[in-house]
Amino acid sequence: MDFLSEIERRRTFGIISHPDAGKTTLTEKLLLYGGAIQEAGAVKSNKVKKGATSDFMEIERQRGISVATSVLAFIYRDKKINILDTPGHKDFAEDTFRTLTAVDSVIVVIDVAKGVEEQTQKLVEVCRLRSIPILVFINKLDREGKDAFDLMDEVEIKLGLTVTPLTFPIGMGYDFKGIYNIWEKNLELFNSDDKQKISKKIKYGSIDDQKLKLSIGSKQLKQLKEDIELITGVYPKFDREKYLSGSLQPVFFGSALNNFGVQELLDCFIKIAPKPRPKISDTRIIYPKEVEFTGFVFKIHANMDPKHRDRLAFIKIVSGKFERNTSYLHVRQNKRLKFSSPNAFFAEKKQIVDISFPGDIVGLHDTGNFKIGDTLTTGEKINFKGIPSFSPEHFRYINNIDPMKAKQLEKGIDQLMDEGVAQLFILNINNRKVIGTVGALQFEVIQYRLLHEYGAKCNFENLNVYKACWISIEKSKNNEVEEFKRVKQKFLAKDNKEQLVFLADSDFTLQMTKNKYPSIKFYFTSEYK
Ligand code: G4P
Repeated sequence: MDFLSEIERRRTFGIISHPDAGKTTLTEKLLLYGGAIQEAGAVKSNKVKKGATSDFMEIERQRGISVATSVLAFIYRDKKINILDTPGHKDFAEDTFRTLTAVDSVIVVIDVAKGVEEQTQKLVEVCRLRSIPILVFINKLDREGKDAFDLMDEVEIKLGLTVTPLTFPIGMGYDFKGIYNIWEKNLELFNSDDKQKISKKIKYGSIDDQKLKLSIGSKQLKQLKEDIELITGVYPKFDREKYLSGSLQPVFFGSALNNFGVQELLDCFIKIAPKPRPKISDTRIIYPKEVEFTGFVFKIHANMDPKHRDRLAFIKIVSGKFERNTSYLHVRQNKRLKFSSPNAFFAEKKQIVDISFPGDIVGLHDTGNFKIGDTLTTGEKINFKGIPSFSPEHFRYINNIDPMKAKQLEKGIDQLMDEGVAQLFILNINNRKVIGTVGALQFEVIQYRLLHEYGAKCNFENLNVYKACWISIEKSKNNEVEEFKRVKQKFLAKDNKEQLVFLADSDFTLQMTKNKYPSIKFYFTSEYK
Protein backbone atom coordinates (compact mmCIF):
# COMPACT_ATOMS: atom_id res chain seq x y z
CA MET A 1 0.00 0.00 0.00
CA ASP A 2 1.40 3.45 -0.83
CA PHE A 3 2.09 6.20 1.69
CA LEU A 4 -1.07 8.24 1.02
CA SER A 5 -3.35 5.19 1.28
CA GLU A 6 -1.72 4.30 4.59
CA ILE A 7 -2.63 7.76 5.91
CA GLU A 8 -6.16 7.59 4.45
CA ARG A 9 -6.96 4.40 6.32
CA ARG A 10 -5.89 5.49 9.81
CA ARG A 11 -8.41 6.53 12.47
CA THR A 12 -6.88 7.62 15.77
CA PHE A 13 -9.30 8.54 18.51
CA GLY A 14 -9.98 8.57 22.23
CA ILE A 15 -13.02 7.50 24.22
CA ILE A 16 -13.91 9.87 27.04
CA SER A 17 -16.50 9.60 29.76
CA HIS A 18 -17.23 10.07 33.41
CA PRO A 19 -16.10 6.94 35.31
CA ASP A 20 -18.60 4.07 35.06
CA ALA A 21 -20.43 5.29 31.97
CA GLY A 22 -19.00 2.31 30.06
CA LYS A 23 -15.76 3.43 28.40
CA THR A 24 -13.91 0.18 29.12
CA THR A 25 -16.86 -1.94 28.03
CA LEU A 26 -17.25 -0.02 24.78
CA THR A 27 -13.50 -0.21 24.06
CA GLU A 28 -13.64 -3.93 24.57
CA LYS A 29 -16.60 -4.37 22.28
CA LEU A 30 -14.92 -2.36 19.56
CA LEU A 31 -11.93 -4.71 19.83
CA LEU A 32 -14.29 -7.63 19.67
CA TYR A 33 -15.78 -6.36 16.40
CA GLY A 34 -12.29 -5.70 15.11
CA GLY A 35 -11.46 -9.35 15.74
CA ALA A 36 -8.59 -8.23 17.97
CA ILE A 37 -9.98 -10.20 20.91
CA GLN A 38 -12.32 -13.20 20.89
CA GLU A 39 -13.96 -12.90 24.30
CA ALA A 40 -15.09 -9.90 26.29
CA GLY A 41 -13.31 -9.44 29.60
CA ALA A 42 -9.88 -9.33 27.97
CA VAL A 43 -9.34 -5.61 28.31
CA LYS A 44 -8.49 -4.75 31.86
CA SER A 45 -10.12 -1.73 33.30
CA ASN A 46 -7.70 1.07 34.05
CA LYS A 47 -10.06 2.73 36.45
CA VAL A 48 -9.53 2.97 40.16
CA LYS A 49 -11.84 0.37 41.62
CA LYS A 50 -13.35 1.02 45.00
CA GLY A 51 -12.87 -1.87 47.36
CA ALA A 52 -10.32 -3.96 49.14
CA THR A 53 -7.14 -2.09 48.18
CA SER A 54 -6.51 1.55 48.85
CA ASP A 55 -7.01 3.85 45.90
CA PHE A 56 -3.33 4.41 45.80
CA MET A 57 -2.21 0.78 45.55
CA GLU A 58 -4.84 0.41 42.92
CA ILE A 59 -3.17 3.15 40.93
CA GLU A 60 0.15 1.34 41.04
CA ARG A 61 -1.54 -1.83 39.80
CA GLN A 62 -3.26 0.15 37.15
CA ARG A 63 -0.03 1.78 35.99
CA GLY A 64 1.09 -1.68 34.94
CA ILE A 65 -2.10 -2.23 33.02
CA SER A 66 -2.15 1.13 31.42
CA VAL A 67 1.08 0.53 29.48
CA ALA A 68 -0.74 -2.30 27.79
CA THR A 69 -3.91 -0.31 27.21
CA SER A 70 -2.31 3.02 26.29
CA VAL A 71 -2.92 2.34 22.64
CA LEU A 72 -5.24 -0.38 21.41
CA ALA A 73 -4.95 -0.88 17.69
CA PHE A 74 -6.87 -3.13 15.34
CA ILE A 75 -7.94 -3.43 11.73
CA TYR A 76 -11.62 -3.13 10.90
CA ARG A 77 -12.82 -3.27 7.28
CA ASP A 78 -9.41 -2.25 6.03
CA LYS A 79 -9.14 0.72 8.41
CA LYS A 80 -6.35 0.84 10.95
CA ILE A 81 -7.99 1.95 14.18
CA ASN A 82 -5.90 3.35 17.05
CA ILE A 83 -7.79 3.88 20.31
CA LEU A 84 -5.89 5.99 22.82
CA ASP A 85 -6.70 5.25 26.42
CA THR A 86 -7.72 8.08 28.72
CA PRO A 87 -7.80 7.69 32.51
CA GLY A 88 -11.25 8.28 33.96
CA HIS A 89 -10.16 9.24 37.48
CA LYS A 90 -10.41 12.97 37.96
CA ASP A 91 -7.03 13.19 39.71
CA PHE A 92 -5.49 12.18 36.41
CA ALA A 93 -7.42 14.63 34.27
CA GLU A 94 -4.25 16.29 33.07
CA ASP A 95 -3.07 12.99 31.62
CA THR A 96 -6.30 12.84 29.67
CA PHE A 97 -5.94 16.44 28.45
CA ARG A 98 -2.51 15.56 27.09
CA THR A 99 -3.77 12.44 25.38
CA LEU A 100 -6.43 14.55 23.71
CA THR A 101 -3.66 16.44 21.90
CA ALA A 102 -2.83 13.19 20.09
CA VAL A 103 -6.31 12.15 18.93
CA ASP A 104 -7.97 13.09 15.65
CA SER A 105 -11.48 12.63 17.06
CA VAL A 106 -13.28 11.42 20.18
CA ILE A 107 -16.27 9.32 21.17
CA VAL A 108 -18.04 10.56 24.30
CA VAL A 109 -19.85 7.88 26.30
CA ILE A 110 -22.85 8.96 28.38
CA ASP A 111 -24.85 6.82 30.81
CA VAL A 112 -28.53 7.01 29.83
CA ALA A 113 -29.62 7.17 33.47
CA LYS A 114 -27.01 9.62 34.77
CA GLY A 115 -26.91 11.93 31.77
CA VAL A 116 -24.09 14.44 31.39
CA GLU A 117 -21.71 14.20 34.34
CA GLU A 118 -18.99 16.52 35.61
CA GLN A 119 -15.91 14.81 34.20
CA THR A 120 -17.53 14.55 30.76
CA GLN A 121 -18.28 18.25 30.83
CA LYS A 122 -14.63 19.19 31.47
CA LEU A 123 -13.22 16.85 28.85
CA VAL A 124 -15.71 17.84 26.16
CA GLU A 125 -14.92 21.48 26.79
CA VAL A 126 -11.25 20.79 25.98
CA CYS A 127 -12.29 19.00 22.77
CA ARG A 128 -14.66 21.79 21.82
CA LEU A 129 -11.98 24.46 22.28
CA ARG A 130 -9.73 22.49 19.93
CA SER A 131 -12.55 21.78 17.43
CA ILE A 132 -11.98 18.03 17.75
CA PRO A 133 -14.75 16.11 15.95
CA ILE A 134 -17.01 14.54 18.61
CA LEU A 135 -19.37 11.60 18.35
CA VAL A 136 -21.72 10.84 21.27
CA PHE A 137 -22.65 7.30 22.35
CA ILE A 138 -25.51 7.05 24.85
CA ASN A 139 -25.01 3.80 26.70
CA LYS A 140 -26.94 1.34 28.88
CA LEU A 141 -30.24 1.51 27.01
CA ASP A 142 -31.04 -1.89 28.49
CA ARG A 143 -31.65 0.00 31.74
CA GLU A 144 -34.27 2.58 32.65
CA GLY A 145 -32.97 6.06 31.98
CA LYS A 146 -33.82 9.52 30.79
CA ASP A 147 -36.01 10.17 27.78
CA ALA A 148 -33.90 10.20 24.61
CA PHE A 149 -35.05 13.67 23.54
CA ASP A 150 -34.50 15.13 27.02
CA LEU A 151 -31.04 13.62 27.06
CA MET A 152 -30.14 15.16 23.71
CA ASP A 153 -31.32 18.53 25.08
CA GLU A 154 -29.11 18.00 28.11
CA VAL A 155 -26.14 17.20 25.89
CA GLU A 156 -26.71 20.40 23.91
CA ILE A 157 -27.11 22.59 26.98
CA LYS A 158 -24.50 21.14 29.31
CA LEU A 159 -21.85 20.29 26.73
CA GLY A 160 -22.50 23.17 24.36
CA LEU A 161 -22.90 20.85 21.38
CA THR A 162 -25.27 20.79 18.41
CA VAL A 163 -26.48 17.25 18.04
CA THR A 164 -28.20 15.14 15.45
CA PRO A 165 -29.14 11.51 16.17
CA LEU A 166 -27.93 8.91 13.68
CA THR A 167 -29.54 6.02 15.54
CA PHE A 168 -32.57 6.09 17.81
CA PRO A 169 -33.80 3.69 20.52
CA ILE A 170 -37.12 1.88 20.52
CA GLY A 171 -38.10 1.85 24.16
CA MET A 172 -35.60 1.43 26.98
CA GLY A 173 -34.96 -0.69 30.04
CA TYR A 174 -37.48 -3.49 30.24
CA ASP A 175 -39.20 -2.28 27.07
CA PHE A 176 -35.98 -1.84 25.07
CA LYS A 177 -36.70 -3.34 21.67
CA GLY A 178 -33.87 -2.16 19.51
CA ILE A 179 -32.24 0.62 17.55
CA TYR A 180 -33.50 2.35 14.44
CA ASN A 181 -30.55 3.25 12.25
CA ILE A 182 -31.36 6.68 10.83
CA TRP A 183 -28.04 6.77 9.01
CA GLU A 184 -28.62 3.55 7.07
CA LYS A 185 -32.42 3.55 7.32
CA ASN A 186 -32.75 0.10 8.80
CA LEU A 187 -33.55 -1.38 12.14
CA GLU A 188 -32.08 -3.88 14.49
CA LEU A 189 -33.92 -5.69 17.23
CA PHE A 190 -32.46 -6.29 20.63
CA ASN A 191 -31.52 -9.75 21.78
CA SER A 192 -29.73 -9.85 25.11
CA ASP A 193 -28.85 -13.55 25.08
CA ASP A 194 -25.18 -13.43 24.42
CA LYS A 195 -23.30 -10.62 26.08
CA GLN A 196 -19.80 -11.92 25.45
CA LYS A 197 -19.78 -12.73 21.75
CA ILE A 198 -21.18 -10.96 18.75
CA SER A 199 -24.66 -12.30 18.23
CA LYS A 200 -26.62 -12.34 15.00
CA LYS A 201 -28.93 -9.39 14.64
CA ILE A 202 -32.35 -9.36 13.05
CA LYS A 203 -32.30 -6.71 10.39
CA TYR A 204 -35.23 -5.03 8.67
CA GLY A 205 -35.09 -3.23 5.40
CA SER A 206 -37.26 -0.29 6.42
CA ILE A 207 -39.58 1.11 9.00
CA ASP A 208 -42.56 -0.02 6.85
CA ASP A 209 -41.51 -3.68 6.84
CA GLN A 210 -44.62 -5.72 7.74
CA LYS A 211 -42.64 -8.11 9.94
CA LEU A 212 -41.57 -5.20 12.08
CA LYS A 213 -45.05 -4.64 13.44
CA LEU A 214 -45.10 -8.25 14.54
CA SER A 215 -41.79 -7.90 16.32
CA ILE A 216 -42.28 -4.68 18.26
CA GLY A 217 -46.06 -4.34 18.31
CA SER A 218 -48.19 -1.60 16.83
CA LYS A 219 -47.88 0.72 19.85
CA GLN A 220 -44.10 0.93 19.73
CA LEU A 221 -44.12 1.08 15.94
CA LYS A 222 -46.43 4.08 16.08
CA GLN A 223 -44.19 5.73 18.66
CA LEU A 224 -41.11 5.06 16.52
CA LYS A 225 -42.73 6.62 13.46
CA GLU A 226 -43.63 9.70 15.49
CA ASP A 227 -40.11 9.93 16.91
CA ILE A 228 -38.52 9.70 13.48
CA GLU A 229 -40.87 12.38 12.19
CA LEU A 230 -39.92 14.64 15.09
CA ILE A 231 -36.21 14.01 14.55
CA THR A 232 -36.50 14.85 10.87
CA GLY A 233 -38.33 18.07 11.72
CA VAL A 234 -36.23 19.27 14.65
CA TYR A 235 -32.62 18.17 14.25
CA PRO A 236 -30.24 19.33 11.54
CA LYS A 237 -29.45 16.88 8.78
CA PHE A 238 -26.12 15.17 9.29
CA ASP A 239 -23.37 17.03 7.48
CA ARG A 240 -19.91 15.47 7.53
CA GLU A 241 -18.08 18.74 6.99
CA LYS A 242 -19.80 20.24 10.02
CA TYR A 243 -18.95 17.19 12.10
CA LEU A 244 -15.31 17.39 11.01
CA SER A 245 -15.09 21.08 11.85
CA GLY A 246 -16.55 20.45 15.31
CA SER A 247 -19.86 22.25 14.76
CA LEU A 248 -22.19 19.22 14.61
CA GLN A 249 -22.13 16.10 16.76
CA PRO A 250 -23.86 12.87 15.75
CA VAL A 251 -25.49 10.84 18.53
CA PHE A 252 -25.78 7.05 18.77
CA PHE A 253 -27.70 4.94 21.26
CA GLY A 254 -26.96 1.42 22.46
CA SER A 255 -25.79 -0.92 25.13
CA ALA A 256 -22.09 -1.68 25.10
CA LEU A 257 -22.50 -4.55 27.55
CA ASN A 258 -24.99 -6.24 25.25
CA ASN A 259 -23.07 -5.46 22.03
CA PHE A 260 -26.00 -3.42 20.97
CA GLY A 261 -25.71 -0.39 18.74
CA VAL A 262 -21.92 -0.82 18.82
CA GLN A 263 -21.54 -2.09 15.28
CA GLU A 264 -23.71 0.75 13.97
CA LEU A 265 -21.42 3.13 15.79
CA LEU A 266 -18.25 1.52 14.44
CA ASP A 267 -19.51 1.20 10.85
CA CYS A 268 -20.51 4.82 10.80
CA PHE A 269 -17.36 5.90 12.62
CA ILE A 270 -15.02 4.45 9.98
CA LYS A 271 -16.98 6.22 7.26
CA ILE A 272 -17.21 9.66 8.83
CA ALA A 273 -14.36 9.99 11.36
CA PRO A 274 -11.36 12.02 10.24
CA LYS A 275 -8.13 10.58 8.94
CA PRO A 276 -4.99 12.00 10.61
CA ARG A 277 -5.33 15.77 10.89
CA PRO A 278 -2.73 18.49 10.34
CA LYS A 279 -1.14 20.00 13.42
CA ILE A 280 0.00 23.51 14.24
CA SER A 281 3.66 24.07 15.13
CA ASP A 282 5.34 27.27 16.25
CA THR A 283 6.35 28.11 12.67
CA ARG A 284 3.79 26.52 10.35
CA ILE A 285 1.04 23.92 9.94
CA ILE A 286 2.37 20.41 9.38
CA TYR A 287 0.34 18.14 7.05
CA PRO A 288 0.32 14.34 7.43
CA LYS A 289 1.16 13.76 3.77
CA GLU A 290 4.44 15.69 3.99
CA VAL A 291 7.36 13.42 3.23
CA GLU A 292 9.54 14.45 6.17
CA PHE A 293 8.78 12.80 9.49
CA THR A 294 7.51 14.88 12.44
CA GLY A 295 5.96 13.74 15.71
CA PHE A 296 5.60 14.71 19.36
CA VAL A 297 5.66 13.08 22.80
CA PHE A 298 2.29 13.13 24.56
CA LYS A 299 2.87 10.55 27.25
CA ILE A 300 5.76 8.99 29.16
CA HIS A 301 5.69 5.81 31.18
CA ALA A 302 8.60 5.27 33.48
CA ASN A 303 10.15 2.59 35.66
CA MET A 304 7.69 -0.19 35.11
CA ASP A 305 10.52 -2.53 35.95
CA PRO A 306 12.45 -1.16 38.96
CA LYS A 307 15.54 -3.18 37.97
CA HIS A 308 15.94 -1.23 34.75
CA ARG A 309 15.46 2.46 34.40
CA ASP A 310 13.09 1.92 31.53
CA ARG A 311 10.94 4.65 30.13
CA LEU A 312 8.61 4.44 27.22
CA ALA A 313 7.84 7.71 25.43
CA PHE A 314 4.69 7.67 23.34
CA ILE A 315 5.02 9.59 20.07
CA LYS A 316 2.14 10.57 17.82
CA ILE A 317 3.30 10.66 14.21
CA VAL A 318 2.09 13.84 12.55
CA SER A 319 3.74 13.59 9.12
CA GLY A 320 6.00 11.35 7.06
CA LYS A 321 7.15 7.85 7.89
CA PHE A 322 8.85 6.89 11.11
CA GLU A 323 11.50 4.27 10.46
CA ARG A 324 13.50 2.04 12.76
CA ASN A 325 17.25 2.74 13.09
CA THR A 326 16.96 6.12 11.39
CA SER A 327 18.44 9.23 12.92
CA TYR A 328 15.93 11.90 14.03
CA LEU A 329 16.33 15.35 15.53
CA HIS A 330 15.22 15.89 19.12
CA VAL A 331 14.45 19.57 18.63
CA ARG A 332 14.56 20.79 22.27
CA GLN A 333 17.92 19.18 22.92
CA ASN A 334 19.20 19.81 19.38
CA LYS A 335 20.50 16.26 19.39
CA ARG A 336 20.15 13.39 16.93
CA LEU A 337 18.77 10.08 18.19
CA LYS A 338 18.25 6.64 16.66
CA PHE A 339 15.77 4.04 17.83
CA SER A 340 16.57 0.38 17.34
CA SER A 341 13.38 -1.05 18.83
CA PRO A 342 10.38 1.24 18.41
CA ASN A 343 7.20 -0.39 19.66
CA ALA A 344 3.90 -0.44 17.85
CA PHE A 345 0.74 -1.54 19.58
CA PHE A 346 -1.68 -4.12 18.36
CA ALA A 347 -4.69 -5.02 20.48
CA GLU A 348 -2.97 -5.41 23.83
CA LYS A 349 0.43 -6.44 22.54
CA LYS A 350 3.55 -4.45 21.90
CA GLN A 351 5.73 -5.36 18.97
CA ILE A 352 8.80 -3.91 17.29
CA VAL A 353 8.00 -2.17 14.03
CA ASP A 354 10.14 -1.09 11.14
CA ILE A 355 7.86 1.57 9.81
CA SER A 356 4.90 3.61 11.12
CA PHE A 357 2.64 6.19 9.48
CA PRO A 358 0.88 9.44 10.39
CA GLY A 359 -1.85 8.76 12.93
CA ASP A 360 0.11 5.92 14.49
CA ILE A 361 1.58 5.93 17.94
CA VAL A 362 5.04 4.50 18.54
CA GLY A 363 6.55 3.76 21.92
CA LEU A 364 10.24 4.66 22.13
CA HIS A 365 12.55 3.38 24.81
CA ASP A 366 14.11 6.39 26.41
CA THR A 367 16.94 6.90 28.84
CA GLY A 368 15.79 10.30 30.01
CA ASN A 369 15.90 12.43 26.88
CA PHE A 370 12.21 13.12 26.53
CA LYS A 371 9.75 15.42 28.23
CA ILE A 372 6.08 15.57 27.45
CA GLY A 373 5.54 17.95 24.55
CA ASP A 374 8.95 17.32 22.89
CA THR A 375 9.08 17.33 19.10
CA LEU A 376 11.02 14.86 16.95
CA THR A 377 11.68 15.52 13.24
CA THR A 378 13.95 14.43 10.40
CA GLY A 379 15.70 17.77 10.72
CA GLU A 380 13.34 20.74 10.68
CA LYS A 381 13.43 22.89 13.82
CA ILE A 382 9.79 23.13 14.73
CA ASN A 383 7.92 22.70 18.00
CA PHE A 384 4.36 21.44 18.13
CA LYS A 385 1.99 23.53 20.17
CA GLY A 386 -0.94 22.51 22.24
CA ILE A 387 0.32 20.62 25.27
CA PRO A 388 -0.35 23.21 27.93
CA SER A 389 -0.01 22.83 31.68
CA PHE A 390 -3.05 23.82 33.71
CA SER A 391 -2.90 25.30 37.17
CA PRO A 392 -2.77 22.53 39.76
CA GLU A 393 -5.38 22.43 42.52
CA HIS A 394 -3.14 21.28 45.39
CA PHE A 395 0.26 22.66 46.37
CA ARG A 396 2.79 21.38 48.89
CA TYR A 397 6.46 21.96 49.70
CA ILE A 398 8.52 18.85 49.18
CA ASN A 399 11.29 18.22 51.75
CA ASN A 400 14.18 15.81 51.65
CA ILE A 401 14.32 13.74 54.86
CA ASP A 402 17.44 11.72 54.07
CA PRO A 403 20.42 14.04 53.50
CA MET A 404 22.47 11.13 52.07
CA LYS A 405 19.98 10.76 49.23
CA ALA A 406 19.65 14.36 48.06
CA LYS A 407 20.84 13.50 44.52
CA GLN A 408 18.44 10.61 44.17
CA LEU A 409 15.57 12.81 45.29
CA GLU A 410 16.51 15.48 42.79
CA LYS A 411 16.70 12.97 39.96
CA GLY A 412 13.45 11.28 40.99
CA ILE A 413 11.57 14.56 41.12
CA ASP A 414 12.91 15.61 37.72
CA GLN A 415 11.93 12.32 36.10
CA LEU A 416 8.47 12.18 37.62
CA MET A 417 7.85 15.74 36.43
CA ASP A 418 9.04 14.80 32.89
CA GLU A 419 6.46 12.06 33.01
CA GLY A 420 3.81 14.63 33.88
CA VAL A 421 2.81 13.13 37.24
CA ALA A 422 2.73 16.63 38.76
CA GLN A 423 4.21 20.09 38.28
CA LEU A 424 7.24 21.51 39.99
CA PHE A 425 7.60 25.19 40.90
CA ILE A 426 10.75 26.67 42.40
CA LEU A 427 10.19 29.68 44.62
CA ASN A 428 12.23 32.71 43.58
CA ILE A 429 12.90 33.87 47.10
CA ASN A 430 14.48 30.76 48.61
CA ASN A 431 14.64 28.10 45.87
CA ARG A 432 12.27 25.80 47.78
CA LYS A 433 10.51 23.22 45.68
CA VAL A 434 6.73 23.24 45.49
CA ILE A 435 4.82 20.35 43.95
CA GLY A 436 1.44 21.08 42.39
CA THR A 437 -1.08 18.34 41.57
CA VAL A 438 -4.60 17.97 40.25
CA GLY A 439 -5.66 15.58 43.02
CA ALA A 440 -4.44 14.90 46.56
CA LEU A 441 -3.79 11.28 45.62
CA GLN A 442 -0.75 12.18 43.55
CA PHE A 443 1.26 13.20 46.64
CA GLU A 444 1.00 9.62 47.90
CA VAL A 445 1.97 8.30 44.48
CA ILE A 446 5.00 10.63 44.32
CA GLN A 447 6.20 9.73 47.83
CA TYR A 448 5.83 6.02 47.12
CA ARG A 449 7.52 6.12 43.74
CA LEU A 450 10.42 8.29 44.96
CA LEU A 451 11.10 5.75 47.67
CA HIS A 452 10.65 2.60 45.60
CA GLU A 453 12.15 3.72 42.33
CA TYR A 454 14.86 6.14 43.50
CA GLY A 455 15.46 5.19 47.14
CA ALA A 456 14.68 8.78 48.19
CA LYS A 457 12.64 9.76 51.22
CA CYS A 458 10.56 12.89 51.30
CA ASN A 459 7.72 14.49 53.14
CA PHE A 460 5.30 17.24 52.22
CA GLU A 461 4.40 20.44 53.97
CA ASN A 462 1.21 22.33 53.40
CA LEU A 463 1.32 25.54 51.49
CA ASN A 464 -1.61 27.82 51.13
CA VAL A 465 -1.92 28.38 47.40
CA TYR A 466 -5.17 28.74 45.48
CA LYS A 467 -3.92 28.77 41.88
CA ALA A 468 -0.72 29.02 39.89
CA CYS A 469 -1.01 31.86 37.38
CA TRP A 470 1.26 32.21 34.37
CA ILE A 471 2.01 35.83 33.65
CA SER A 472 2.33 38.05 30.63
CA ILE A 473 3.81 41.47 31.08
CA GLU A 474 3.45 44.68 29.10
CA LYS A 475 7.06 45.74 28.67
CA SER A 476 6.25 49.47 28.47
CA LYS A 477 4.94 49.49 32.04
CA ASN A 478 8.27 48.72 33.65
CA ASN A 479 7.64 50.55 36.92
CA GLU A 480 4.45 48.68 37.58
CA VAL A 481 6.13 45.33 36.84
CA GLU A 482 9.09 46.09 39.09
CA GLU A 483 6.76 47.01 41.93
CA PHE A 484 4.73 43.79 41.40
CA LYS A 485 7.90 41.70 41.50
CA ARG A 486 9.09 43.43 44.68
CA VAL A 487 5.79 43.36 46.56
CA LYS A 488 4.87 39.83 45.56
CA GLN A 489 8.35 38.27 45.62
CA LYS A 490 7.30 35.73 48.25
CA PHE A 491 4.69 34.38 45.82
CA LEU A 492 6.73 34.20 42.63
CA ALA A 493 8.17 30.98 41.27
CA LYS A 494 9.52 29.40 38.07
CA ASP A 495 7.91 26.45 36.35
CA ASN A 496 9.89 23.68 34.59
CA LYS A 497 10.31 25.85 31.51
CA GLU A 498 11.65 28.74 33.60
CA GLN A 499 8.47 30.71 33.04
CA LEU A 500 7.43 33.13 35.79
CA VAL A 501 4.40 32.00 37.82
CA PHE A 502 2.44 33.85 40.49
CA LEU A 503 1.16 31.55 43.27
CA ALA A 504 -1.99 33.31 44.46
CA ASP A 505 -3.15 32.30 47.92
CA SER A 506 -6.82 33.10 47.30
CA ASP A 507 -9.21 34.26 44.64
CA PHE A 508 -9.52 37.52 46.57
CA THR A 509 -5.75 38.16 46.44
CA LEU A 510 -5.72 37.37 42.75
CA GLN A 511 -8.51 39.84 42.02
CA MET A 512 -6.80 42.52 44.12
CA THR A 513 -3.50 41.91 42.34
CA LYS A 514 -5.18 42.11 38.93
CA ASN A 515 -6.76 45.44 39.88
CA LYS A 516 -3.56 46.88 41.25
CA TYR A 517 -1.38 45.86 38.30
CA PRO A 518 -3.58 46.21 35.20
CA SER A 519 -0.65 45.85 32.78
CA ILE A 520 0.02 42.31 34.00
CA LYS A 521 -2.18 39.49 32.72
CA PHE A 522 -2.73 36.29 34.70
CA TYR A 523 -3.58 32.90 33.16
CA PHE A 524 -4.49 29.49 34.62
CA THR A 525 -2.69 27.75 31.75
CA SER A 526 0.91 27.86 30.58
CA GLU A 527 -0.03 28.16 26.93
CA TYR A 528 -1.83 31.47 26.73
CA LYS A 529 -0.04 32.95 23.71
P1 G4P B 1 -15.80 3.01 32.65
O1 G4P B 1 -14.67 2.36 31.93
O2 G4P B 1 -16.41 4.15 31.89
O3 G4P B 1 -15.50 3.41 34.05
O4 G4P B 1 -17.00 1.95 32.75
P2 G4P B 1 -17.05 0.38 32.57
O5 G4P B 1 -16.96 0.01 31.13
O6 G4P B 1 -16.09 -0.27 33.50
O7 G4P B 1 -18.54 0.11 33.01
C1 G4P B 1 -19.02 0.46 34.29
C2 G4P B 1 -20.12 -0.49 34.69
O8 G4P B 1 -21.23 -0.35 33.80
C3 G4P B 1 -19.70 -1.95 34.64
O9 G4P B 1 -20.38 -2.64 35.65
C4 G4P B 1 -20.24 -2.39 33.28
O10 G4P B 1 -20.47 -3.78 33.21
C5 G4P B 1 -21.53 -1.61 33.22
N1 G4P B 1 -22.01 -1.39 31.85
C6 G4P B 1 -21.32 -0.99 30.76
N2 G4P B 1 -22.10 -0.93 29.67
C7 G4P B 1 -23.35 -1.30 30.08
C8 G4P B 1 -24.59 -1.46 29.40
O11 G4P B 1 -24.73 -1.25 28.21
N3 G4P B 1 -25.65 -1.86 30.16
C9 G4P B 1 -25.53 -2.14 31.50
N4 G4P B 1 -26.61 -2.54 32.13
N5 G4P B 1 -24.35 -2.00 32.15
C10 G4P B 1 -23.28 -1.60 31.45
P3 G4P B 1 -19.73 -2.98 37.05
O12 G4P B 1 -20.71 -3.77 37.79
O13 G4P B 1 -19.23 -1.71 37.68
O14 G4P B 1 -18.44 -3.77 36.66
P4 G4P B 1 -18.30 -5.26 36.16
O15 G4P B 1 -18.26 -6.04 37.41
O16 G4P B 1 -19.47 -5.57 35.29
O17 G4P B 1 -17.01 -5.22 35.43
